[in-house]
Amino acid sequence: MAGKRVIKVAPSLLAADFSCLESEVKRAEKAGADRLHVDVMDGHFVRNITLGPFIVRAIRKTTKLPLVAHLMIENPERYIEEFARAGSDLIVFHIETTKTPKSLIADIKKLKKKAGVSLKPKTKVDSIKDILSLVDEVLVMTVEPGFGGQEFMRTQLPKIKAIREAYSGDIAVDGGINLKTARLASQAGANVFAAGTYLFGAKNMPGLITKLKRI
Ligand code: DX5
Ligand code: ZN
Repeated sequence: MAGKRVIKVAPSLLAADFSCLESEVKRAEKAGADRLHVDVMDGHFVRNITLGPFIVRAIRKTTKLPLVAHLMIENPERYIEEFARAGSDLIVFHIETTKTPKSLIADIKKLKKKAGVSLKPKTKVDSIKDILSLVDEVLVMTVEPGFGGQEFMRTQLPKIKAIREAYSGDIAVDGGINLKTARLASQAGANVFAAGTYLFGAKNMPGLITKLKRI
């Protein structure tokens, strides 16, 4: 269970209407979002291409909410400074994209940002066990990264449990999150919910965020 851990809801802007991004950001803010989740995809690490630091900077201008840069990109080392300068508060890299996670985390912290690590569904918990004490968040992908609107993979629940046994910080889940799957993830130990389609596709975002927070 999430227990006394604070639940945080992070609408994923991937599902927002980018033709009116500022009002979408404001909609999420007014609905009670704790932070905004920004999906950065490079067309290499994942098939899709989304946005870069330029857009993060534009989002930064429209809100005071913490911004999470979920970097689904190769060579994260090359880009963290730009994402930091663009106004990201938490920079999440994928463990599959670096051979030197410890120095990457140290570099993110030198930029005075929080550091998070993410794992693809097939990636084992073992791959992050040496860096668990160094990160501010673990982001468990509950779909294959690349696209919104996919179905939550229950196969990731034991992984969340295993991470929770070894880690007391924030565990986020990302992909296919709705009230039902967030409950399952919370029972396994997750306390941060990144949700795109479920929140931005809803007429009543405030109501859904309230429900997620009550889990
Ligand atoms: C997928 C992204 C997710 C995505 C989730 O690769 O990392 O953040 O926006 O979208 P939904 O909530 O629609 O599954
Ligand atoms: Zn994401």
